[in-house]
Amino acid sequence: MNPRPEDVDLTAPLGGTTLPNPLSTAAGCAGYGRELARFVPLDALGTITTRTVMAEPRAGLATPRLAETPAGLLNAIGLQGCGIDAFLGDELPWLAERGARVLVSVAGERLEEFAGLAERLNGRPGVAGVELNISCPNTADRGLLFAANPAISYDVVRAVRAVTDPALPVYAKLSPDVASITDVAAACVRAGADGLSMINTALGMAIDTDTLRPALAGTTGGLSGPALRPIAVRCVYQVHAAMLAGRMAPVPILGMGGVGTGRDALELTLAGASGVAVGSALFHDPAAPLRILDELRALLAARGFAKYTDAVGYAHRGNQ
Ligand SMILES: Cc1cc2nc3c(=O)[nH]c(=O)nc-3n(C[C@H](O)[C@H](O)[C@H](O)COP(=O)(O)O)c2cc1C
Repeated sequence: MNPRPEDVDLTAPLGGTTLPNPLSTAAGCAGYGRELARFVPLDALGTITTRTVMAEPRAGLATPRLAETPAGLLNAIGLQGCGIDAFLGDELPWLAERGARVLVSVAGERLEEFAGLAERLNGRPGVAGVELNISCPNTADRGLLFAANPAISYDVVRAVRAVTDPALPVYAKLSPDVASITDVAAACVRAGADGLSMINTALGMAIDTDTLRPALAGTTGGLSGPALRPIAVRCVYQVHAAMLAGRMAPVPILGMGGVGTGRDALELTLAGASGVAVGSALFHDPAAPLRILDELRALLAARGFAKYTDAVGYAHRGNQ
């Protein structure tokens, strides 16, 4: 007999700790939580991922920074943010007071900056883990993405893991714009990553046919939303398959890319995600994570899953 939806065990792993449920926000789509708190009690989420925090405050790129495309969104925000001092002074304490479990996204222009930022998160109330946004350009290496290269990804994760409290999980956020996402994922796990966030936006571009110019001031931008979902499913599936085949140690995958319904969340879970983050959908439905959680619970029950974790990677059965 199928379980009742309310009896489904939704607990989800975060590398070392267990979350009450697998739903998170994706970095950059819920700010530091203040706007979202009007729609969702932040402690009801598995985690909330912050927008990427860097060493210094940043204004981001010039406008226009967003362009709608038929099944997705292009953004070139340019990592606008308040910088680590204001984050630790104002934003993180505010989040901690609300009982939020915070996955802090950090990025540096150089390897040492990642480690310096992560180290400052040690011992801070509210921090549930560190997410390394290695999908941004490495200024020391001619603007190449850190995540474009397994060896550089390895170095970043290793440097961060060396200085981060062992109790804090370190997640690496991967880019789909690479020749082999499993090579980058395996390098991150070898370097000590406790989990993988997959995926960041895919590089895209739109041209305004009235002005005859690129639609974004930054020319290219990151594609997110439903158009990205099949790419996210493919990436999560490939990396989970590599884990099942013993080509890398198994770690939890936080799946994201075009999740707007419980069915989308289930799809990424079946591909191998142990948790699911919601990004672009928040812009038109800020309460989406809790709706998606309810839908996911009902779908799991209807398919006979008593535990969320039993569905993780289920689509791989018979394929090994
Ligand atoms: C407006 C916007 C801002 C984003 N900012 C960040 C960011 O600061 N750091 C990061 O790692 N990813 C950032 N992302 C990527 C998302 O976290 C997510 O990986 C991606 O959008 C795919 O999920 P989605 O299709 O549900 O939006 C941003 C995405 C959008 C749309």
